[in-house]
Amino acid sequence: MLGNVLSLFDGISGGQVALDRLGIKYENYYASEIDKYAIQITQKNYPKTIQIGDVTKVKANDLPKIDLLMGGSPCQGFSIANQNRKNLVFNEYGVCSDERSQLFFEFVRLLKETKPDWWFLENVRMKKEHMEIVNKVLSDAVGYTVEPYLVNSSVRSGQNRLRYYWTNIPFENNLEDWGIKLKDILEPIPFSKDYPNYLRLPIVRKKGGASKKTRGEMVRSIDDEKSFTVNATMWKGQKSSYVKAQEINPFRPCEPREIKKDSLCHHVADATDIKGNQAIKRVYGGEGKSPTLTTMGGGHREPKVLVVPEKVKVRKHEVDIKKLQSILRQHRLPIKEISEKLNVKKTTVEHWFRTDNCFSIPDAEIWFDLKKLLNIETNEFDLPITEFEIRDGRYEMADRVYNPKYKSPTIVS
Ligand SMILES: C[S@@+](CC[C@H](N)C(=O)[O-])C[C@H]1O[C@@H](n2cnc3c(N)ncnc32)[C@H](O)[C@@H]1O
Repeated sequence: MLGNVLSLFDGISGGQVALDRLGIKYENYYASEIDKYAIQITQKNYPKTIQIGDVTKVKANDLPKIDLLMGGSPCQGFSIANQNRKNLVFNEYGVCSDERSQLFFEFVRLLKETKPDWWFLENVRMKKEHMEIVNKVLSDAVGYTVEPYLVNSSVRSGQNRLRYYWTNIPFENNLEDWGIKLKDILEPIPFSKDYPNYLRLPIVRKKGGASKKTRGEMVRSIDDEKSFTVNATMWKGQKSSYVKAQEINPFRPCEPREIKKDSLCHHVADATDIKGNQAIKRVYGGEGKSPTLTTMGGGHREPKVLVVPEKVKVRKHEVDIKKLQSILRQHRLPIKEISEKLNVKKTTVEHWFRTDNCFSIPDAEIWFDLKKLLNIETNEFDLPITEFEIRDGRYEMADRVYNPKYKSPTIVS
């Protein structure tokens, strides 16, 4: 049992999730965080959390004795992915040209001020010279030599995420990989418009959004109970209409790539409808690990995943489409009237009376009401329209890539 925990840069309180999972109890959890959305999530999940705001204003004197200090300071300045890293300048105790990495020195200050029994700092993989500076600053702060452990969270998750951990908590760094893959952490998402139980929705694009090339039909299962994977566009109060556009999956044309079997993330294809740098075109397969998930700004920047369903719901009986079309057209009423009486969108109703590729079979839930309204007497379509069964997915091989001439069942995260 710990008394007081101080978590700096607490975010959505991953620290409390970890303590919970480890079964470590604590009396008080002090969180220093400034992002109001992250704080809302924390307070929803852990209402007893004591939020103490901006780390630069936190003083050890205002806090009780701290048993555990932990934190993962904003990392962009140290990141080896940061283009401007060459310009980082440190002095011995605390001047770093990147202000986000400057916050690391706040961790060091509070480490010195609070003198916790246990402490733990996480950060990105960085250049050796930067890592050595961090080692030195931390070692000077605690009075003994500290070096980081390099751990890839891929051993416990479906994500490729190499991180450094500095700590005085004893740790055996030989964790075996539990074999969790990207496909294991994705929620089930329908992907094919071949399956008639999927709602077909027009793409809703915000103005100035993606090019016309990506317009087309998007699909989602009518009886899909799970949320789509939360994506970067949902952060910080994005408008729900935009979220809606993102949560349904477009079919994206792709160029298959050979998978390097020795790589952790399986880069299986490149989207061909995206202009821009190579990285944003990458499509990952479910058999590998996910690339690191970040709060990227939406658009095409989120990681893209090739989704291969294992089970699909399909019609049990064949529908005689030509005959159905002819019967529907014989009994047709004005679209507006049908739409209002059945409380179904006009655009949906229109599709029931088309005879081209845009024809769609009326939904099972609406069929009997529609029959009554149109005075259709035959029962021959009742079972074909309303009965379904679950079958194995058409693409049983994960990581299969598709001929670029056809459409690839790619979704945006
Ligand atoms: C790398 S994230 C840490 C995420 C966290 N480990 C979690 O479980 O969600 C860094 C966090 O530092 C926060 N941060 C940035 N400036 C801060 C400041 N001055 N005081 C406190 N937190 C700050 C950011 O809002 C961000 O949530």
